[in-house]
Amino acid sequence: MTTRKKRILSGMRPTGRLHLGNYVGALENWVRLQDSYENYHLVADWHTLTTDYEHTRQIPENTREMVMDWLAAGIDPEKSPIFVQSKVKAHAELYLLLNMIISTGRLERNPTLKDQVRDLELEDAVSAGHLTYPVLQAADIMMYKGEVVPVGEDQLPHIEVTRELARRFNNLYAPEQPVFPEPEGMLTQFPRLQGLDGRRMSKSLGNTILLADAPDEIRNKLRKAVTDPQKVRKNDPGRPDVCLVFGYHNKFNSAETGEIRSGCESGALGCVDCKKRCAETIIEHLAPIHERRVHLETNPQIVADVLEQGNRKANETAAQTMAEVHTAMGFGA
Ligand code: TRP
Repeated sequence: MTTRKKRILSGMRPTGRLHLGNYVGALENWVRLQDSYENYHLVADWHTLTTDYEHTRQIPENTREMVMDWLAAGIDPEKSPIFVQSKVKAHAELYLLLNMIISTGRLERNPTLKDQVRDLELEDAVSAGHLTYPVLQAADIMMYKGEVVPVGEDQLPHIEVTRELARRFNNLYAPEQPVFPEPEGMLTQFPRLQGLDGRRMSKSLGNTILLADAPDEIRNKLRKAVTDPQKVRKNDPGRPDVCLVFGYHNKFNSAETGEIRSGCESGALGCVDCKKRCAETIIEHLAPIHERRVHLETNPQIVADVLEQGNRKANETAAQTMAEVHTAMGFGA
């Protein structure tokens, strides 16, 4: 007997070229999951407007760059449609309807929103769209009846909002035959990668290694990476556990971490050599991704076709869901 595969909805804001932190924290997981689940991959372009509504012109280019990374990393668009939020207008309709059945108080209690308000110093300049962005995210997930949503920890409050909305919609309009499943968040197991300066890897901090970086760029970037400040000279003993380069070895060079740890701790292995080895293993790990990316860069039609197909498929699924929504609410088909 074959059981139906569960459906995953994965989403990312189009921030342009992705870095190793995005890869390890999300993308690699998406690639792994696409064989055991039915996956939908959403480019959340409207979501960028919640904090960056002034800059809309670069969204198409950022979308293309990000989708190239998705494909290069191994997302197979035949199995897993890749599509753009703004190209499926039904998201806006479902978002509108869901906004009617959640209170502003509930949205104001969202800890992720509170963090953003503090980090971006928004205070009372939060837009209505920003306050309600978890509702937009819920619409993204519910539209495809997502059951599992791979996310970082900061996104779990939004999954909780989605669960509440799914439950509330079902109770209100479809108590006999629920329309929406209650999705679950799925956290990645691998800890976050640090950036080259030891802070969290982030585009805005300028401390990233990009999937698109050429081998020499990776070598140069690693040469400048911060290491254990107590290891000043080559033969000083170092502390791998406070060193971001060791974190990279751990991820990309797990076969040699034992040897690298003891070499670092005893002082036999200096940072210059350690970084060289690290750069080479990252380069080797990224080589197939890099090769595919170059192919995609020189053949722009591939990404255009992938998105066109994905948008079509997503619109079909969305139309089915919205027909059920209309029936449940009594709007007719
Ligand atoms: N809110 C997510 C973020 O900021 C992006 C996102 C939008 C998303 N829609 C989604 C993630 C649906 C998962 C599912 O990173």
